[in-house]
Amino acid sequence: MSRQTDLLHKGSRTAGKHDAPEIEPIYLTNAFNVSDLDELDFVYGGGGFAYNRTSNPNRSNLGELISALEHGDDTLITNCGMSAISTALFAALKAGDHIVSDRTLYGETIDLINRILGKMNVEADYCDFTKPEEIRAALRPNTKVLYTETESNPMMCVYDLDMIAEIAHSAGAVLIVDNTFTTSCLVRPLDHGADAVVSSLTKFANGHGDTLAGSVTGSAEFIKEAYEVQQWIGTTADPFSSWLILRSMRTLDMRMARHCSNAMKVAEALERDPHVTKVLYPGLKSCPQHGLASRMMENGYGGMLSFFVPEDRAGINEFMHRLKYVRYAMTLGGPRTTISHPVTSSHYDVPEEERLKMGITSGMIRMSVGLEDPDDLVADLTEALKAFD
Ligand SMILES: Cc1ncc(COP(=O)(O)O)c(C=O)c1O
Repeated sequence: MSRQTDLLHKGSRTAGKHDAPEIEPIYLTNAFNVSDLDELDFVYGGGGFAYNRTSNPNRSNLGELISALEHGDDTLITNCGMSAISTALFAALKAGDHIVSDRTLYGETIDLINRILGKMNVEADYCDFTKPEEIRAALRPNTKVLYTETESNPMMCVYDLDMIAEIAHSAGAVLIVDNTFTTSCLVRPLDHGADAVVSSLTKFANGHGDTLAGSVTGSAEFIKEAYEVQQWIGTTADPFSSWLILRSMRTLDMRMARHCSNAMKVAEALERDPHVTKVLYPGLKSCPQHGLASRMMENGYGGMLSFFVPEDRAGINEFMHRLKYVRYAMTLGGPRTTISHPVTSSHYDVPEEERLKMGITSGMIRMSVGLEDPDDLVADLTEALKAFD
């Protein structure tokens, strides 16, 4: 089936055959009745449900859909993106192991690796994943995981996942990729050799800004290991959030197409604006990674971009006050366009020296381009940027 048909039809299992509702119900129960021990054996064999933490039809439905979209064997649905990342990393790493990550990760993933995995005696190194020689130089005999995002937050850097997967595998490590920014509509990391893909479904997959969830997709073997971690540290998503995300994902393809075309128009307009010194968007021909992005991204260049304005706090405040439609919010992937200021939000905890090495300055604004009329967005931004006159 095509992705569009999968999006609408996968994950539509309902419990009973009679009076089956057209839309899957929400199974708001913490346990399921079983009639006898034979039925319990059937449930334990994967044929049914017993307890909400171990399995629930709403998570199974969403997992089935995401497995189809990501081309993975199986998917776990977690209660947020961070728990998807921690579940996958705990499954792949143990004390004494080493992880190599791209330098420009989402700030809280860096915190997880340094502060939590670090406490568990997992060593970490960071380098530039666009440079194979840097990755190879960072490898050690105990390197077990290479970790990157499909498109980095907030640098909008894209990566040659096939090349990184080859380096990981030749070193006996696995490649885990965060697909939050691009979603399976644009990039399928497993098709490029990744061993597991994690996502914050809170963002574009949800697309309505009303709940949090995450996913881990991979081979049956990887997910078996990750399932044990999920059960024992308890990272499962609740039925209502799983239901909300499944409902939203039915329109993911259409929404992503609009996010992509709007972002392209906004990026082009920002590039022309005299108050903006630089725009980071892989769809721009001026982006040094445009060629790679065209190879890695299937249906557009995503809804995320960053741009640089003068490093003037009062000017940035004035710019924010002048914006009519575009609001500040510490999230992304929602229906409305939002901006954030990485230095004071996603990368607040990253030491200044590290942050500057990533290229994140106090004049950087990250934007999640929404579904509005793009001409209204451009007009709003153009007017507000006059704050820097
Ligand atoms: C790339 C990326 N991964 C993971 C996360 C964490 O997601 P959540 O907030 O759902 O835990 C975020 C949050 O912004 C993100 O941007």
